[in-house]
Amino acid sequence: MAELPNFSTLFSLDSKVALVTGGSTGIGYYIAAAFIRAGASKVIITSRKEDGLREAVDKLNAIPGCTERASYVVSNISTMDGVEKLVGDLRGGLPDGKLDILVNNAAASWGGPFEEYDDWKVAKTFDVNVRAVFNLTRRLQPFLMAAATPDDPARIIIVSSVGGIIVPHVGQTGAIAYSASKAAAHHLGRNFAMELVPHNITTNIIAPGWFPTRLANPAIEKAGGEKAAGAGNPMNRLGVPEDIAGAAVYLCSRAGRYVNGEDISVDGGSRLMNWSAAQHINKVRSSAKL
Ligand SMILES: NC(=O)c1ccc[n+]([C@@H]2O[C@H](COP(=O)([O-])OP(=O)(O)OC[C@H]3O[C@@H](n4cnc5c(N)ncnc54)[C@H](OP(=O)(O)O)[C@@H]3O)[C@@H](O)[C@H]2O)c1
Repeated sequence: MAELPNFSTLFSLDSKVALVTGGSTGIGYYIAAAFIRAGASKVIITSRKEDGLREAVDKLNAIPGCTERASYVVSNISTMDGVEKLVGDLRGGLPDGKLDILVNNAAASWGGPFEEYDDWKVAKTFDVNVRAVFNLTRRLQPFLMAAATPDDPARIIIVSSVGGIIVPHVGQTGAIAYSASKAAAHHLGRNFAMELVPHNITTNIIAPGWFPTRLANPAIEKAGGEKAAGAGNPMNRLGVPEDIAGAAVYLCSRAGRYVNGEDISVDGGSRLMNWSAAQHINKVRSSAKL
C-alpha cells in the first residue's frame, strides 16, 4: 500500500519516553502497560504511595520482553512543592532531557450530598484535578519541547471524565466539585492545545465513563455493583483496560499526531443517555432476550 507507508508502525510507540501520573493503579496503570506493550523505551509512573508504585513497576517490568522499561518517582502533585520535587527527581532520568509523552491522569474524587461537601474536599479535588495538571504541564514544557518535532509532536493527554461533560450524579451520590473540576480539566486541555502547538506539542483529553477502579468502585457499589452499573450503559457493560489502552496509544502514536484539542469519550456512549434512549435500548435488549 504505497499510499500508507510504514503502516505496520502507525500505532507504535517505539523509543518513546512517557510519564503517567497516578500510574500505579487503575486507568493510569492500564495506560502505562499499554505504552510499554506498544514499544515505549521508558515509562515513569508517579503517585503518593511507594508500595503501590513498586508493585506496579514490578508487574510492568514482568511483561515479556519489557524488563527495565518501567520506573517510578514518588510524588504528591497536589502542592507546588510536590510538583517541583517530581520535576527535580525526573530530570536526571530523562534521556537527553527529553519527555515525549505526559499523561495527566492522577485525580481525587469525593461523592456525597451537597450540604456535606466541606471546603477541604472542594480544595483537594481542584488541587489534584486542575492545579496539578496546570502546574506540572507548565514545569514539564521544556522537556516536552526538547522531544518535539513538527513531524512527531510531543503529546499531552489529560484523563478527564464524562462527569466533566454531563451532570452524572446529584443528591446522595452527588460529585459536584469533581464534575466541575473535570470540566475545568477539559478546558485546560483545549487551552494547552492552542498554547503549546507552536512548540510542536499537542494536547488531547480522554474522558472515561465508568471503569472499576479504586476511585470509581464506591460509586459503582452504590449503583448496585458492576453488573447493575454496566446495565445502565448503552453498551451494557463497564469499561475494560483495553478500551483505555486503545485511545491512549492512538493519541500518542503516529496515528494520532494530527489530533489536537480533542475530547475522546471512552464511555460506550453513556454521556448521551436520556429517557428516550434508555427506553429504546431496554426495549431492543429485552426483545433480543425473547
Ligand atoms: N474509574 C472510572 O470510572 C473513571 C471515570 C471517569 C474518569 N476517571 C479518571 O481516571 C483517572 C484515574 O482514576 P482511576 O479511576 O484509575 O482511579 P485510581 O485507581 O484511584 O487512580 C488514581 C491514581 O492517582 C494517584 N493520586 C491520587 N492523588 C494523587 C496525588 N495527590 N499525587 C499523586 N498521585 C495521586 C493515586 O495513587 P496514590 O493514592 O498512591 O497517590 C492513583 O494511582 C482520574 O483522572 C479519574 O478522574 C476514572
